[in-house]
Amino acid sequence: QDPRIARISSAIRVIPDFPKPGIMFQDITTMLLDTKAFKDTIDLFVERYRDKNISVVAGVEARGFIFGPPIALAIGAKFVPMRKPNKLPGEVISEEYSLEYGTDKIEMHVGAVEAGERALVIDDLIATGGTLCAAVKLLERVGVNVVECACVIELLGLKGRERLGDRPLFVLVNAT
Ligand code: PRP
Ligand code: MG
Repeated sequence: QDPRIARISSAIRVIPDFPKPGIMFQDITTMLLDTKAFKDTIDLFVERYRDKNISVVAGVEARGFIFGPPIALAIGAKFVPMRKPNKLPGEVISEEYSLEYGTDKIEMHVGAVEAGERALVIDDLIATGGTLCAAVKLLERVGVNVVECACVIELLGLKGRERLGDRPLFVLVNAT
């Protein structure tokens, strides 16, 4: 394993019982305060994706907006925000996904991407995989080739990876 991973992992703070009892919240904000850990995180993604002909980095609101733009700039790709409902002012396409109770939606501007483009989908964390899967489906619906999904943290045990089917998922840190 890359020696940078250990520092990244230890810079992530775990807060028990947030936002509700029983949840161990993986708080990446402490990692952002560690300038080396934050830079290493971005560098690890950039090293992996720089020579993969990726033209789009799609980041999922809100925490995907922290990691997506620096990666996009470094690899020479555009950044496309995948937003929560009713935030984008132009024409949108949206994809619904199920939560523990009820449903949520993410949206993307029509015209932000073209069929045939190669995309990386980035978020901070995968839990059930609902969010990431919806982002991938949205891009696939408009003919984009999702090369890979990437997260800083994978919460094992919630089977989020299975929800993505055979689409590749790259993560830096595993958590339970
Ligand atoms: C969190 C996290 C991921 C998502 C993962 O976002 O940042 O986007 O949940 O969960 P899933 O794999 O079960 O879909 P959340 O919407 O809670 O908040 P945020 O706006 O702070 O990113
Ligand atoms: Mg999120």
